[in-house]
Amino acid sequence: VVPDRAWREEVRRLVRERDAILLAHNYQIPEIQDIADHTGDSLALSRIAAASDASTIVFCGVHFMAETAKILSPDKTVLIPDARAGCSLADSITAEQLRAWKAEHPGAVVVSYVNTTAEVKAETDICCTSSNAVDVINSIPADKEVLFCPDMFLGAHVRRETGRENIHVWAGECHVHAGIDGAELSRRAAANPDAELFIHPECGCATSALYLAGEGAVPSERVKILSTGGMLDAARTTRSRSVLVATEVGMLHQLRKAAPGVDFQPVNDRASCRFMKMITPGALLRCLREGVDEVHVDPVVAERARGAVQRMIEIGQ
Ligand code: 13P
Ligand code: SF4
Repeated sequence: VVPDRAWREEVRRLVRERDAILLAHNYQIPEIQDIADHTGDSLALSRIAAASDASTIVFCGVHFMAETAKILSPDKTVLIPDARAGCSLADSITAEQLRAWKAEHPGAVVVSYVNTTAEVKAETDICCTSSNAVDVINSIPADKEVLFCPDMFLGAHVRRETGRENIHVWAGECHVHAGIDGAELSRRAAANPDAELFIHPECGCATSALYLAGEGAVPSERVKILSTGGMLDAARTTRSRSVLVATEVGMLHQLRKAAPGVDFQPVNDRASCRFMKMITPGALLRCLREGVDEVHVDPVVAERARGAVQRMIEIGQ
């Protein structure tokens, strides 16, 4: 299927016919981002899904995002163009593993990244995304122990930002962001001394960037650790002419649209998430025509997970 004008018209017609809202994450291919009603980061899309009065949510993203929308809106139909679009980070902790970890730390508050399954969310006190993780931790009394899962790099980021030492961090990672390593970042930063660095906190290189700043190799005001939505806000106000971007490459499309005068370059141009890219123009068309793949969450699990997700969308507004 070619994403041409006929495709665009057919997609929009079917969206209207289904009384649907079409959401796309910032890592989707440009054609999917451009046809969506809203493009954004995980937190913004969760909020839009929760507030929408459309009867169907079509989620162009990965499975945990569509599941989160279903948890918040159990009476709506939630569709994802390909239910096989998973997430290596969400797969790095199971509900059983989380229950065992909780048993080792009775009384600790569990904070889970939104990149988790509904079953893990059901064992969680507060969910967070990369854009409000620090606010979520700051909402917890300082003397309370915290179990943070599953991303160790985001966990290290919140420990640094909050200065709290009572945060235990699970050793999970996203294979795409972990693959953007510090050596590569150092090389690119040295070759582009005027560039600003936009770094997603899931990246293995976030610590190296702060180290470079600490060593004076990059001025610290040029190093920004940001969610994908935060990167877009920063792009709109940056005074730099060039920015090195450490995240999934789909992000470059929105950044270039937001600030056409700035040269955005990926730190690693192979950082592409194969799960996000399963949402093809053909899959979207099939989804809208046939009403597949529908996302279901066990109502008991959804009920137990809802409070944690609701707290997530309320914190850091
Ligand atoms: P954000 O959109 O919240 O920055 O998340 C990034 C991500 O990896 C989603 O899969
Ligand atoms: Fe998951 Fe990483 Fe892909 Fe995001 S980029 S969906 S965290 S595997």
